[in-house]
Amino acid sequence: MRITDTSDLWWKNAVVYCLDVATFMDWNDDGVGDFEGLAHRLDYLSEIGVTCLWLMPFFASPERDDGYDVADYYDVDGRLGHLGDLLEIIRTAKDRGMRVIADLVVSHTSDRHPWFVQSRSSRDNPFRDFYVWRDEPPAGSPANVFPGEEDGVWQHDERTGQYYLHHFYKEQPDLNMANPKVRDEVAKIVGFWMQMGLSGFRVDAVPYLVDPSSAGAHSFLRSLRSYVSRRSGEAMLLGEVNLPYDRQLEYFGGPEGNELTMQFDFLVMQRLYLALAREDARPLADALLERPALAPENQWATFVRNHDELTLDRLTDDERAEVFAAFAPDESMRAYGRGIVRRLPTMLEGDEQRIRMVYSLLFSLPGTPVLFYGEEIGMGENPAAPGRLKVRSPMQWSTSRHGGFSNADRLVGPVVEGRFGPEHVNVSQQRHDPGSMLQFVRRLVERYRNSAEIGWGELTLLDHEHPSVLAHALEDPEGRMIALHNFSREPRELSLAIDRADASTRFVDLLAGGEHRLDERGRLSIRLEGHGFRWLRVLGPDAKRLS
Ligand code: GLC
Repeated sequence: MRITDTSDLWWKNAVVYCLDVATFMDWNDDGVGDFEGLAHRLDYLSEIGVTCLWLMPFFASPERDDGYDVADYYDVDGRLGHLGDLLEIIRTAKDRGMRVIADLVVSHTSDRHPWFVQSRSSRDNPFRDFYVWRDEPPAGSPANVFPGEEDGVWQHDERTGQYYLHHFYKEQPDLNMANPKVRDEVAKIVGFWMQMGLSGFRVDAVPYLVDPSSAGAHSFLRSLRSYVSRRSGEAMLLGEVNLPYDRQLEYFGGPEGNELTMQFDFLVMQRLYLALAREDARPLADALLERPALAPENQWATFVRNHDELTLDRLTDDERAEVFAAFAPDESMRAYGRGIVRRLPTMLEGDEQRIRMVYSLLFSLPGTPVLFYGEEIGMGENPAAPGRLKVRSPMQWSTSRHGGFSNADRLVGPVVEGRFGPEHVNVSQQRHDPGSMLQFVRRLVERYRNSAEIGWGELTLLDHEHPSVLAHALEDPEGRMIALHNFSREPRELSLAIDRADASTRFVDLLAGGEHRLDERGRLSIRLEGHGFRWLRVLGPDAKRLS
């Protein structure tokens, strides 16, 4: 790997941090987080070692779906500040070595968007075809994404007597991407925000954005990718595509890799939870082996939690029931029959060793890790909030009023209370505590950034006799590391055969310090505590990579 590749394809080993400006830091004390608050926290994010901020929707919106219902793509939500404030964030973040990407939510708009207001006004309005209208709901229509909250995907509109398509809430009419005028508008939106300094987009709900059955779907993504690459060499498209791997590969543009640059790995995430529930690493190992090979510039985005329900829709019914039983025993902890509305630390009942094992995995699995705000300090969710908002509670900065998030009487959402509330879990205390979760995550980020093989290397799973342990090696032309993770609460003794190693090979423990050598049988013998983990850098006598 040459230095030019590493910096050009910056997303191959980035550290992405997702946050919602509205719940991060409220500087003007009106109860809603704002750009100014975020500006004051950019140094905190750069201290963690974040290299890419993903801002959840900050556009003007009636907030039916927490901003994922956009009423104006060219303006920001006035509660957060104004466009100039956002520009300052983008500029300052770059100064601190962090790129900024944002949600591109164009599979649908808000029903308040002027296009839809026009579209629904009459059948011959020039904007009518910006959306999808039918006289009758077609037979065999798919289910709505929000079962229990919406009955279907077609909504009757009184004025013109037709039905419009909405895969999400009825206040989120689907745009008609088959219409070239809509595609042009999307290109303008993308161009505008790139000019404003964004380095890419998290492309929302991709399979709903383009009809996957139409031949045009992939040509649209191809043209979008080449358009953003023409506008900027650093442009990156990170797609939300929760589909089986063979379908995901299509959305990468197949072996040519000329559609989405990155995609979230939903399968690895779901199998990770199954592995945790079973204390058996094999479901995760199998998912890693099933991953299709990608073109060199493409990448998987790995994650443990995001802002949505932890979806388990790719597991079988029995597997999902196992994960529910282990981590969401109460119906109120679940959503849409498919997911969990909790954060990791509560699911793992605050078991610090086990939580750390999971984050160690996140940063050592091949791919680019994505953190959701608050994960770095072990925040929990607020069970009192409705639905998915449970995991979107205000960031916990200190033991001050409302966790230091705001001094307003009424907040955008309730702060977590109890064991995972700000009295016990907050940034300020953890910054001063060398043994804290925050310092642990900082160390992981630092080691990850020093280990290019995690983002770039070839994966090998190492053979051994313990199903509860994932032993994986990553190697690029300049270095090799081995990561060991014990899913069991019981200790495990491993004996591993290591390719191309001899008595001179050192195995430097990147997290705990110290080093190992092969034993007299020529094997690497390592003990892992219950839920223990290790990262070992494999160094020959001529090694150059830092340990
Ligand atoms: C994506 C977002 C989710 C949103 C939906 C509709 O799945 O992650 O939060 O509700 O798209 O925009």
